[in-house]
Formats: sequence, C-alpha cells, structure tokens
Amino acid sequence: MIPFAELSTADLQATREKLLECYRAFQERKLTLDMTRGKPSPEQLDLAMEMLTGDVGREYSSPSGVDCRNYGGLDGIKEAKALSARYLEVASDEIIVGDSASLKMMHDTIMGALVYGVEDSMQPWGKLDTVKFLCPSPGYDRHFAICQYLGIEMITVGLGPDGPDMNTVEELVAADERIKGIWCVPKYSNPTGITYSDTVVDRLAAMETKAADFKIFCDNAYAMHHLGETGDPLKNMLSACKDANNPDRVFLFGSTSKISFAGSGVAMMAASRKNIEFILSKMQFQTIGPNKLNQLRHVLFFKDVAGIEKHMARHAAILKPKFEAVLEVLERELAGSAIAAWSKPNGGYFISIDTLPGCAQEVISKAADAGVKLTPAGATFPYGRDPQNTNIRIAPSFPSVADVQTAMELVAICIKLVSIDKLLGGS
Ligand SMILES: Cc1ncc(COP(=O)(O)O)c(C=O)c1O
Repeated sequence: MIPFAELSTADLQATREKLLECYRAFQERKLTLDMTRGKPSPEQLDLAMEMLTGDVGREYSSPSGVDCRNYGGLDGIKEAKALSARYLEVASDEIIVGDSASLKMMHDTIMGALVYGVEDSMQPWGKLDTVKFLCPSPGYDRHFAICQYLGIEMITVGLGPDGPDMNTVEELVAADERIKGIWCVPKYSNPTGITYSDTVVDRLAAMETKAADFKIFCDNAYAMHHLGETGDPLKNMLSACKDANNPDRVFLFGSTSKISFAGSGVAMMAASRKNIEFILSKMQFQTIGPNKLNQLRHVLFFKDVAGIEKHMARHAAILKPKFEAVLEVLERELAGSAIAAWSKPNGGYFISIDTLPGCAQEVISKAADAGVKLTPAGATFPYGRDPQNTNIRIAPSFPSVADVQTAMELVAICIKLVSIDKLLGGS
C-alpha cells in the first residue's frame, strides 16, 4: 500500500468517497458491539465452572484443617498463600491473599500510605502538600483513576517496547521527594502488551530516589496470560529490589480475575516481610479475614502453578483467534499506509493502536456512531488526556471472533477516513 501522505489530493478524495460508502453500509447494519473493557468472554468463564458445581464447590475444610466457613486467617489460608506465592514468585511469608479484587488492594495500600505512611515513612503521605506518582503511559486507566480520586498528582512518562522511559524516571525520582510512587504493569502491559526488560526492572530496583519511602506499585495482572506456548520472560521485581539493597521498595499485586472469574477470583499482594507485617497491622482493623471459601475453591481447582498454566492454555486457545482477527484486519487494511501503528502482544488482553496525531478521538467517536464502542479516547493517559490524541485501546476478548473482525473492519475504515480528512486539511 502507498503511504497515504504520498497520495494526490484527487486520489485521497476518491478513496474518501469509497470509504464513506462502506461506512454508511456499516451504519445501516445497526451494530451494537462493545470492545470498551478487557472482560473475559462467557466461554472463558465457563472453563472454571467446576469450581462452583463439582465437589470443589462443596468443600469447606482446607487441606490443613481450617474450617473455611468461619472467621479468621487475615493473610489467607496456608494453601492459597503457597499457591499465590509461587504464582508471583515470592516466599509464602511475603504474601497476603485477599478477597476478589487486586485493584482494591492497590487502592487500600495507597489510601493507607496517605493516612499512616508506608513502613519506612517519616510521616503519612497525606501530610504533604503534594504527593506525585509517575504514570508510564499509555497505561491502565483505573490506576490513574485511583490517583485522581485520591488527589495524587500524576506525571506522565513514556512507555517504550521494554518498559518506562528510565532516563526520565531516574531523573524525576532523584530530584523530587514528593514523587512517592510509580505504576507498573510489567508483563503484557495494559494496553500496549509490552513486557519490561531485565534492564528496566534492575534500574527501577536500584535507582536513587529522593523520597526514602518511594514505592513501585507493580501490578502483575497478566503474569501467566500468554497467547502462545511460552510467555515473555519477566525478571522478578521483588528479587531485583532485594539484590539492589532496596528490599522494601516494591508492592506486587495480582489476581485470578482473568484466570477464574473476573471480580470473583482471588486477589493477592506481595512485598518484603517488613512491608507485609506493616500492612497486616493496619488491615486487622479493616477485616476479620478474607473469603476463605473462595480461596479454598481456587486451591482445590488449580492444585498448583502447573494447574494454572494448563488452565491458561485453554484461555489462550479462545483468545488467540480474537487477537489474530484484530491483527489480520489491521495488516490487511492499514499495513504500509503510514497512518497507524499497532502492538502485536504475546499475551494480555489488549492491542494498542496509534493513529496520526490528533485523530484518535474522532476515530473512536466515528466507530461509536456506527455501533462499535471502544475505550474512550484519552483513557489510557493520566487525567484522560492523551497529549497527542493518538492512542486507541482495542479489547478483543469479549465479542466473538466474527464480531471482532466486523468491529475491526469498521475501525480500519474510521482510521482511514479520519486520517484522510486530516491530510486534506480537515475538509
Ligand atoms: C493491569 C490491570 N490490573 C488490574 C486489573 C483488575 O484486577 P482485579 O480484577 O484483580 O481488581 C485489570 C483489569 O483489567 C488490569 O488490566
């Protein structure tokens, strides 16, 4: 395909006319497709149904003899701790297994830091005039929403193919003690699908920070969510922090939301023993204990990490054709046009498209007008503002393969139409 920028005005106008016809045909189909959020499809959720319907669903006594119907066990049942520790690659005294949402654990950890500080704080973060977080972007909108809600100033830093722009990160954290944290989704990042390189992990672990109580909020939501047989390797952030003599720098989070049931899985957080003790000392006032029955169901269903891996291969078999459908349409319709670039992730839940500057919002609204809802423009950046207005997050997990294909054909038409308008100077 000839790059659009090299087409004559007449060719662009003729292409535009043809595209408009296709676009109107899509409008007449009155589609109602939703690709706004990375939700598992019903078919994926069905994979774990035995957890509710079989013997597993009826059991209430843990292998070590705890009656899971009753109160207690603030940091989770022993077997769930052992399984989660292996999942996040930490020791079983470095983990808390909680209820169903890791996002809540992230929110509560930050809220706790504002009210009491973290384990190595001189004073609660909330006593400062300003608390700032670094937000590698494009990133996860709900991380940014937590910061905005809690009044934490967000600083956007770039996210490249191997992780955050570390030169900028290092420079910023070394200079400003009000920068207390950084958000990281180190594997199959939401939405670009990249995985942090060892070098990036090591630099995050070792960098000089002006704030003595600086924390990495490392959300490993997609730790085993590969699309192929082998996943991207990721260096463990807690081990890297220990090796760099900053053992208390990182909080790791994860959950089985996209392994068992989204919003009804098991969430976990890991950190140094010192951090875990500090968090539990506060958590005891929040709850008498987590939902141990749900933890038990997960332990009995998956048994071990190999069980999770086997289960994730079944998820991948459902997800892969959907990712392939997105990439096939993008390749077929846009390769060589130089009006869009897109990620080709090895796992996770998203594909990220970058349009020409200034086009993303219009593409998303055009797609919505023809019945395909995408994640709102700007959502992948702090304050909902994409400075270049280029990023579009595609979440192909929920619709069927056929619907994903239809939706992407429309998205490709919208990208072409909006880009042509831009190249023609808004005509
Ligand atoms: C990066 C990331 N973290 C966390 C979550 C939500 O996790 P949970 O369901 O455990 O709160 C998501 C869901 O899309 C996500 O993409």
